[in-house]
Amino acid sequence: MQRSWWREAVVYQIYPRSFADSNGDGIGDLRGIVARLDYLQRLGVDVLWLCPIYRSPNDDNGYDISDYRTIMPEFGSMEDFTQLLGETHRRGMRLIMDLVVNHTSDEHPWFVESRASRRNPRRDYYIWADPRDGGPPNNWRSWFRGPAWELDPTTGQYYLHLFSKKQPDLNWANPELRRAVYAMMRWWLDLGIDGFRMDVINFIAKVPGVPDSAAAPAVLGERYAHVPGIEHYADTAHVHGYLQEMHREVLAHYDVMTVGECHFLNPERAARYVDPARHELCLLFQFDQIFAAGDRSALRRALEDWYAEFRRHGAWTTTTLGNHDFPRLVSVFGAEGEAREASAQLFATLLLTAPGTPFLYQGDELGMTNVRWERASDYDDIQALGEYRESIARGVPEAQALAQLQQHSRDNARTPMQWSAEAHAGFTTGQPWLRVNDNFRELNAAAQEREPGSVLQYYRRLIALRKQEPCLVYGDFVPLSPDPGPYVYARVLERTRIVVVLNWTQEPTSLPVADWFEPRTAELLLSNQGAPPVEADGAGVLRLAPWQACVYRTRV
Ligand code: GLC
Ligand code: CA
Repeated sequence: MQRSWWREAVVYQIYPRSFADSNGDGIGDLRGIVARLDYLQRLGVDVLWLCPIYRSPNDDNGYDISDYRTIMPEFGSMEDFTQLLGETHRRGMRLIMDLVVNHTSDEHPWFVESRASRRNPRRDYYIWADPRDGGPPNNWRSWFRGPAWELDPTTGQYYLHLFSKKQPDLNWANPELRRAVYAMMRWWLDLGIDGFRMDVINFIAKVPGVPDSAAAPAVLGERYAHVPGIEHYADTAHVHGYLQEMHREVLAHYDVMTVGECHFLNPERAARYVDPARHELCLLFQFDQIFAAGDRSALRRALEDWYAEFRRHGAWTTTTLGNHDFPRLVSVFGAEGEAREASAQLFATLLLTAPGTPFLYQGDELGMTNVRWERASDYDDIQALGEYRESIARGVPEAQALAQLQQHSRDNARTPMQWSAEAHAGFTTGQPWLRVNDNFRELNAAAQEREPGSVLQYYRRLIALRKQEPCLVYGDFVPLSPDPGPYVYARVLERTRIVVVLNWTQEPTSLPVADWFEPRTAELLLSNQGAPPVEADGAGVLRLAPWQACVYRTRV
């Protein structure tokens, strides 16, 4: 495998609104991030991914952009941005930006012009269609609920919005629009950024004619049943042509990292985006991992099947167990309460020793948890609130709809970063834009700095280990244990073999490992609960505590 910085990188995702507030207005900002760069450097991460920081009316917290070349005033100025970029580089880290070009805000000047008249030169930058039987042009549904179309009275046509009605979809079939996007990308890259995370990038090429969705819910699967139409815009024939053009026009001229947010894929189809011979993207997120949630077998398949398929293409994988769109890693995969720390550490071990480039989400390095608020009005997430309102309208009892909201809300991951036990968790001196999780007095970065066994310090050790051991980056991935049961796998590079043992349950267990390695002669590099005893009968049986994770090094 060819070596490159983005294959070796550990990426840390920042949700700027909730990271650190420097001026007391309750909203995280760029200066707040600058003030925390030393923390990130000590953590050991190499690349920072910033969720959108562009000018936006914030209908979807910055994923609705009204000006791609201006910083959202709440977050700071262009000067603040260049300072952040310079200070990041000075510390040996890199910075990638969110690229949101499936849609803009309805307040973007392109859309303001586009909706002005049918003959406006920018009309075709967006996707317009005539009413059908006095209603929307087809039966597609929005990700945030309701129809994916909005009638614009000025011209009597509907525009497509896969997300909120304030997020009209761009028309990638228009070459002038594509040129404008590429120019904007070059502009940011010329400022010195190191790449892009590309928002719903495999949705950009809609099937011409926007046909009705005829797919049965079973075809869409549980994950996509609420968004009929997806089969006509996700992963269509044209998307690869656009990505190859983008590569030719922009990406090929810079040393950058790109990572695509792509949905509705199996490993075979996914590999096509990141097969180096095709010159499209460096990486994409493998959402089967996050969706596996508590299902360990599904998680194994998400790691192993994708790895095997990608490897055949010389493509590089990623590992992601949380981001700003999903509930908290530890609440989903591990356990809250007493086992919170050990289970957070166990999944940290997986995240940083599995093959591919790992993506950490802010606060997961502390083991931050979900919230459970009592009133729907405490929630902010447009997606979860859409689901909640739809449920209420369908007659679902309030208590049940609220439980759903608590469980699904993206706010779980968006509560302010818990820096200290001070007021508002040290996130702001003002009133935070979103409630802080009540557990901040016990669960915060300052406390974990003082405690050697904390989740934070364990993450630091793991990241440092990954840096020292090329085997953890470039080594082959060899699953060893049968499914179900504790997960044991090896990474193998030349004469080094690293064996990872994960007891990913609440139960202690005795695990015979002799077929895979000899624990008495192997070197224990790291464990979240000390060295596990080896039973003395010579059969190499490890006694593992609940949620115990161990990393051993052996020679081949
Ligand atoms: C992506 C983003 C999500 C956003 C949506 C629309 O899924 O990660 O936060 O709401 O796209 O831009
Ligand atoms: Ca602020």
